[in-house]
Amino acid sequence: MNALTTDRIRDHATRLGLTHLGTDAAVVTGLVERAEQAQMGYLDFVDLLLEEELGLREGRRFRNALKLSGLPHHKTLEEFDFAFQPDLDVRKVRDLATLEFARAKSNVALLGPPGVGKTMIAVALAVAACQAGFSIYFTTLDDLVRKLRTAEATGRFNRQLAAFLRPAVLVVDEVGYLPLDRAEANMVFQLVSRRYERGSMIITSNKSFAEWGGVLGDDVLATAILDRLLHHCDVLSINGPSYRLKDRFDLVTGGEPMP
Ligand SMILES: Nc1ncnc2c1ncn2[C@@H]1O[C@H](COP(=O)(O)OP(=O)(O)O)[C@@H](O)[C@H]1O
Ligand SMILES: [Mg+2]
Repeated sequence: MNALTTDRIRDHATRLGLTHLGTDAAVVTGLVERAEQAQMGYLDFVDLLLEEELGLREGRRFRNALKLSGLPHHKTLEEFDFAFQPDLDVRKVRDLATLEFARAKSNVALLGPPGVGKTMIAVALAVAACQAGFSIYFTTLDDLVRKLRTAEATGRFNRQLAAFLRPAVLVVDEVGYLPLDRAEANMVFQLVSRRYERGSMIITSNKSFAEWGGVLGDDVLATAILDRLLHHCDVLSINGPSYRLKDRFDLVTGGEPMP
């Protein structure tokens, strides 16, 4: 290919916003070489060109979205050791990973004691949703409430609430660790009722739903919140051992190996 042509392709690609094809003449000439070696047809070559550009753009979008997502880590379901948690139904988790819940704007609740992998599964589902193109955001309930309170004090409550309404999948981690007061529970009610049937939430909690009245400091509000949250919701209870204590037999059994 002559230099004039490659320069013009680069220029046109850049002006069209095809930043990958526009960065370096070597990108296009490299693709042309691949096409020649594989004796590709014209259609296949156009397909290859667009695929390259889109692949890089998607990769970039995915990495940026993960960076802004607030996720504590980016572990995936492949890293989850299902053998360690035999009472957890693998098929249920794999079904959730198809992201039908996100398309249906329904919710997921992961319940169980500390260390059983609730946060990890919530994160893995959020990473999968992000990869599939859903917008995601991760927060603990504590952080969420703190942000809403601060916003309210400075007259920005609606704007902050809108930020929590925007993502297609909102993870709210650790419901139940710290009790809320009535004003805070009211904010959670506003969030849950505004997201109801408009977006998905993935909730993790160490408390059973029956105990949420205590957590939220008000039985009536707790019922109203659960009513909306659970109307369309997959509930996974994980009641096995703590993965954090996996190698700490001494702590769990007082020195005896675990059965
Ligand atoms: N079955 C598992 N396989 C692999 N890692 C696990 C498993 N369960 C938990 N972990 C890991 O153990 C730690 C605690 O899990 P986490 O999801 O934070 O538990 P929880 O939110 O239920 O308290 C994390 O580092 C997590 O990645
Ligand atoms: Mg957790």
